[in-house]
This record gives sequence, C-alpha cells and structure tokens, in this order.
Amino acid sequence: MPETTLAASAGPKTDSIATGDCLKTMAKWPAACVDLIFADPPYNIGYKYDQYEDSRDDHEYIEWTEQWITTCARLLKPTGSMYVLIGDEYAAETRVHLKRLEREHQLVFRNWMIWHYTFGQNCKAKFNRSHAHLFYCVGTAAFDKWSVTDPPFVFNRQAIAVPSARQTTYGDRRANPKGKLPDDTWYLRPQEVEKEGIERYFGPEEDTWYLSRLCGTFNERVGWHPCQLPESLLERIVRVSSNEGDVVFDPFVGSGTTLAVAARMHRHWLGCELSKEYARKATGRIKQAAETGKAHQSTQADKGIVRGQPKKKAEAHKSRRDQVARESQSETLF
Ligand SMILES: C[S@@+](CC[C@H](N)C(=O)[O-])C[C@H]1O[C@@H](n2cnc3c(N)ncnc32)[C@H](O)[C@@H]1O
Repeated sequence: MPETTLAASAGPKTDSIATGDCLKTMAKWPAACVDLIFADPPYNIGYKYDQYEDSRDDHEYIEWTEQWITTCARLLKPTGSMYVLIGDEYAAETRVHLKRLEREHQLVFRNWMIWHYTFGQNCKAKFNRSHAHLFYCVGTAAFDKWSVTDPPFVFNRQAIAVPSARQTTYGDRRANPKGKLPDDTWYLRPQEVEKEGIERYFGPEEDTWYLSRLCGTFNERVGWHPCQLPESLLERIVRVSSNEGDVVFDPFVGSGTTLAVAARMHRHWLGCELSKEYARKATGRIKQAAETGKAHQSTQADKGIVRGQPKKKAEAHKSRRDQVARESQSETLF
C-alpha cells in the first residue's frame, strides 16, 4: 500500500507513530482525516508506564479525558467510527461526555459494549473484576437520514456475523441464513487461545467473544508493556468498522496492538505515544505484522524457556518475582 498524506497542509504521513503528547500532536492535524479511531487510554489506576504517571487528580483526569475525546471527534471523518475502551472508574464520566458531544452534533453514539474477560485482577475483599467498557460511536454523517441497510459509516456486517441460535439450535426456518450480529457483551477466554490461536474466536461459529485479558505468560504478550490488549479484540473492530486502505488511528499506541492488527489487515496506521521507547518497539511490531500478516507470538525462547525448562534459573525467579509484584500491586489497586 502506498503511504498517504492526510491533507495537503499539516496532515501527517500515515504508517507512522508520532511521539509525544497526543493532544499536542492531534491539534496540528486537519479535521476529518481518519476513518477509524480506537482509544485505550491510561485508566488512572496507578499502572506503571515508562513515561506516563497514571495517578492524577480525579478532576484533572476527567478534564483531560474530555479534551482528548473531543479532539478525536474532530479528527474523525463524518463517515468514520470511534471506539473508546475504559475501566469502571471513569466509564460513567466518559459516557456522559460522549452524550454531550452527540448533543453538540460532533458524533453519534451507537453501543455500550462490555468486554468480559477471564484472568481478571485478583481482589482480596471484593469481587474480582472481569470486564471493561467499550463505547462505540460514529461520525456526523449519521445525523442525516439513513437506512440500516445502507448506513453512512462502514459497518461490514458479514465480516463479523455469526450463526444465530435459531439456526444452530432450533432449526428455525425463519432464521436469517446470513447469521446475526454478535451481542454487545463480548466474552474472551484464554484456554482456547493458547491451544488454537486467536483467529478462531472470530470464526463463524462464535456469537460471543472468548478470549482472556493478556496475562504475562501468554505467547501473544510482547513482554515490555504493562497493559497490552489481545489482538482479537481489535480484529473484530477493524474488520467491522474499516475497509482496506482506510486510516486507522490510535492516540495511545502502547505496545501497538491496534496498529499491528490494522497493518496486517491492509489498513493504513497512524498513532501517538508519549514514550519514545514504546513507540520504537511498537513500530517494529507493526512492521512485522504488516510483513508477515500474522498476530504477534513470543517464542518459548523469548520467555527464557527451553524444552519446558527455564533457560536460567535466576531469570525464571526474577520473572516470577516480577509477576508476584504485579499481582500484589493489582490486589492493592483493585
Ligand atoms: C493503556 S496503554 C495502551 C495499550 C495498548 N492498547 C496496547 O494494546 O498495547 C496507554 C498508553 O498511552 C500512553 N500515553 C499516556 N499519555 C499519553 C499522551 N498524553 N499521549 C500519547 N500517549 C500517551 C502510555 O505511555 C501508554 O503506553
């Protein structure tokens, strides 16, 4: 795919990550320049990032959230789609802001999805958390009159349709032979992923999503970023809400999951990341995904394991210690 320039004036080249504060970077870009936005911001819960301090004053964090969401809405084409993933702590405030933007005719809200994952953080005196909130919005073209069979935004129904229970269980002749759309609660379980690979979860036989949060031991884990998302979560979004050649933008690149999926699905990719180190490593991951067309998989050797044995005992102990430290950090946080 040839690189594109988003606008003759100040548009950045696609297939790149801008390092630095996304607010400053996005302010330089022209309006209506991207087709799909996926945003997974820091959740203000004390995660340890390379550069970003993830425990800000409540009001400051909410104000910042409103700023970057409004700025993203400006960058979205009228025919585009935007997804925001957020934890319980700020889901309500985020939803209220999206409602405000809809009232101001800046975007149109479509769904509030729940991503239900296994391997959630272990809590000591409350229920373990096993979900995140995913808000789905589209651009302003949806304010005009439109029909569900021809919406003014990309919605590739057949790319994500699944058989309905009418088809698989009840043999109901009224069932749509083309299947149904997935529910708005997405389940993601780990066991099948490790066994059979992530692509299966978006196969035609599933009507909900089974795939875990990515734990430290999973092969998909890059190992250098604290909160990497599973590629399969992004795969459904990129598949349904963009076409080949579209521009997919992620204001918080992190380990590069969104853009790696976009690249291997032949979309142009564009991102912002505060940390130069994350941006450098994510760029390597994305380019590899574009070249191989495959999801990231660390090898056993990458993880210091040879034929089931730790390569060096000290390293194995160290990583176990790190894991325990992370888990106890999660317990205090949640
Ligand atoms: C939750 S992580 C994103 C993880 C990503 N979805 C993945 O799968 O790897 C949030 C990222 O946003 C970055 N970040 C924080 N503040 C930022 C800002 N103002 N501009 C750009 N990036 C920022 C952090 O460095 C972190 O890597």
